[in-house]
Amino acid sequence: MEKILINGGTPLRGTVEISGMKNAALPIIFACVLVKDKCIIENVPNVIDVTLSLDILRCMGADIKTIAKNTVEIDCTNLKGGTSSYDMVRQMRASYYLLGTEFGRFGKAHVGYPGGCDFGVRPIDQHIKGFEALGGNVVTEGGYIEIDSENGVIGNNIFFDVVSVGATINIMLAASVGEGTTIIDNAAREPHIVDLANFLNTCGANIKGAGTDMIKIKGVKELHGCTYAIIPDMIEAGTYMIAAAATKGHVRVNNVIPKHLESITAKLEEIGVGVEELDDAIIVDYRGEFNRTTIKTLPYPGFPTDMHPQMSVLLCLANGVSYVSEGVIENRFRYVEELRRMGASIKVDGKTAIIEGGNALSAAPVKAVDLRAGVALLIAGLCVAGKTEITDIHLIERGYDDIVGKMRGLGADIKKIYFPDNASVQKAT
Ligand code: UD1
Repeated sequence: MEKILINGGTPLRGTVEISGMKNAALPIIFACVLVKDKCIIENVPNVIDVTLSLDILRCMGADIKTIAKNTVEIDCTNLKGGTSSYDMVRQMRASYYLLGTEFGRFGKAHVGYPGGCDFGVRPIDQHIKGFEALGGNVVTEGGYIEIDSENGVIGNNIFFDVVSVGATINIMLAASVGEGTTIIDNAAREPHIVDLANFLNTCGANIKGAGTDMIKIKGVKELHGCTYAIIPDMIEAGTYMIAAAATKGHVRVNNVIPKHLESITAKLEEIGVGVEELDDAIIVDYRGEFNRTTIKTLPYPGFPTDMHPQMSVLLCLANGVSYVSEGVIENRFRYVEELRRMGASIKVDGKTAIIEGGNALSAAPVKAVDLRAGVALLIAGLCVAGKTEITDIHLIERGYDDIVGKMRGLGADIKKIYFPDNASVQKAT
């Protein structure tokens, strides 16, 4: 077992390099199932969800090699459909991309029900609606989702009832190889959807309109291998931007696409933080007291839900009462209870966090309850003098590449320590 220890109160200063985007890497790794050839993927972040995805494919017969730092070669020529490990796929959300890729390649799929962060109910009805529109017969039985079809994937028009990143990606994956044309209406527009489309098109797919709410996919006979570099992680970048501001620091965030960060930059400026945009970097500068604000998370290009808990920490330090309304995920408020341990004054009313700023936070032992909640606590720990201890840090490491090393590089007094879990202590005594 590991935990993070922070001796906080030091402003972050220096330069941090942003890794490849986890939420682009995962669908691109699973997209390799559609390619009977070698794909070389560069700028792959070293995070637990990526390692798990590669292990899932390896166990299904893919040949996977790390050929350089953050570069993997994936060859799924001999992969066998329907053989993914139930225990592995239930550990993460993005494993459901195997449904789209198995359906696209084999005309059928057999994959365990996905896991992921606990945000209350996370339905996949839009994925199922999409697979059915493409000719699949979908059944959930014994913890597995099965798709069967008489003639494989046949293109069709699909209108999503809710804007879903996962469903948009899954249907793009399924429809890339096969018969006919698919039009996804009310599609999600996140940068990682564009990145996946660019990857698939580099492999020979015919996808147009990614990044808009209507995506047109003409099925092709087969895809070929390619070399492709994943875009920078906008959520990782936004997290360092907020950490820099909250600790009253001055940080240059390198390897970013500033356009992807516009909603975060705009909010930080509104709060009174200095943000300078360069070609592929952003400089964040503390300029004095923070103003209160109101935020509603929305699908891209709105303010990202994955920045909600981190922004709430910053607003705990602002003057006055701020409101953060959640417009994407059913229940994203589990971070509130842990932040209260550190002295935060936050009430939750329905889907809105009401944050009374200006109450001094204090160091405390806390627990990462999900990925972004965990990193929000880490930011809070960096802000306050004294020792903060965070447990369950594997949840943070699901999505942040070397966060302890990167924060240390910015001058933070932070370390990871190992400690025996109760089970091994009991065994030993
Ligand atoms: C992805 C991201 C996650 C991010 C989220 C929103 C990955 C691995 N995860 O999650 O980090 O927080 O996008 O940007 O990329 N919904 C339905 N029916 C569906 C699908 C979704 O009702 O079939 C609703 C649910 O309330 C769900 C919400 O839409 O909570 C968002 O879902 P979606 O956009 O699909 O997010 P994920 O792909 O789960």
